[in-house]
Amino acid sequence: MDLDPTSPDMQDVPLTVLGLESSCDETAAAIVRLDATGQADVLGEAIQSQNSAHAPYGGVVPEIAARAHAEIMDELVVQVLAEADLLLADIDGIAATSGPGLIGGVMAALMTAKGLALGAEKPLIAVNHLEGHALSPRLSERVDFPYLLLLVSGGHTQLLIAEAMGKYQRLGSTMDDAAGEAFDKTAKIMGLGFPGGPALEQIAKTGNPDRFELPTPLNHRAGCDFSFAGLKTAARQIWESLDDPTDADKADLAAAMQKKIAASLAIRSGNAMNYFSETYPDIKAPPFVVAGGVAANQTVRMALEHAAKVTGFRVVMPPMKWCTDNAAMIALAGAEHLRRGEFDDLTAPARARWPLDAVSARLDPAVGSGRKGPKA
Ligand code: KG4
Ligand code: ZN
Repeated sequence: MDLDPTSPDMQDVPLTVLGLESSCDETAAAIVRLDATGQADVLGEAIQSQNSAHAPYGGVVPEIAARAHAEIMDELVVQVLAEADLLLADIDGIAATSGPGLIGGVMAALMTAKGLALGAEKPLIAVNHLEGHALSPRLSERVDFPYLLLLVSGGHTQLLIAEAMGKYQRLGSTMDDAAGEAFDKTAKIMGLGFPGGPALEQIAKTGNPDRFELPTPLNHRAGCDFSFAGLKTAARQIWESLDDPTDADKADLAAAMQKKIAASLAIRSGNAMNYFSETYPDIKAPPFVVAGGVAANQTVRMALEHAAKVTGFRVVMPPMKWCTDNAAMIALAGAEHLRRGEFDDLTAPARARWPLDAVSARLDPAVGSGRKGPKA
């Protein structure tokens, strides 16, 4: 290995890391250069979505996803090396999402990274996908620790405080469905296609959000956890009670569902903001970072912006391409670990579950099983 990242000489040099991502339904590779000041530059990135492969089934099919990742991962690596005008020999480390996620998918990135690390004699960095999301705003702007993060995607809904690199405190997470899942499943019931979130938002534009009464999840309950299963069931029951639903019925139900998901995200985030402010009373206008595909939803954005305004937080949303699943965030997390002399050997496991609560989670894959495991 030509690089010893733990050597004091290496602390001041830029680190160039190849990152690979395949934990859900995007296959992605990226190369990020991280300088000693913490400035990150994305030198190359490539992403392949599997939406059309899963669309006929109305959701992500794990076996189809795993095969599609494995088929294309190598090609994406070649593409990003060409875009960055680099050879594998020029790369300082190889990072891959090694969990949490669909295990067959996770293995595609991790096994490719292991092969490349072994062949090119480079360090392997097994990255927690959630840590990638947590660091993603730092790809585009300077965001100092500590900051509050809402991760809201099809696989995850959680609030956490990013205290420092490698140090994350989870304040709450979903007890059942993720918010994106609630959008997708409701859209599926209503026959709106896949992925359902954007389709539901589109149809909700002409709807009346107050015609159908839906419950506000965990209403009046303190804390930062989420629950969307009850809301989804209530929406399904209304849908099934409609005889031959019209376009107006669809629009009204979509609007009601969207309004309640947005309200729940904003209320629970508000609770987290209050907790953060009590913990760090001296930080003025603390950053509230929102990452994940659901952040594309305008009603959700407006609700979160309102909550932040009330509590004096500054909303930070990474550009959409780094807000959803991507490999640049994985390369960045890998580079940050490498800078600290942290890397893995070739026995690093693929993990379906891997919570981000503490640094110990990096070391102890057994942490976090149980009811809140998979979505947390
Ligand atoms: O972060 P992401 O691309 O992938 C993971 O799930 O990790 O998020 C995808 C999720 C899907 O559930 C999708 O329906 C949802 O984000 N989504 C939306 C919108 N755009 C994407 N949900 C509501 N409104 C949208 N405009
Ligand atoms: Zn993700």
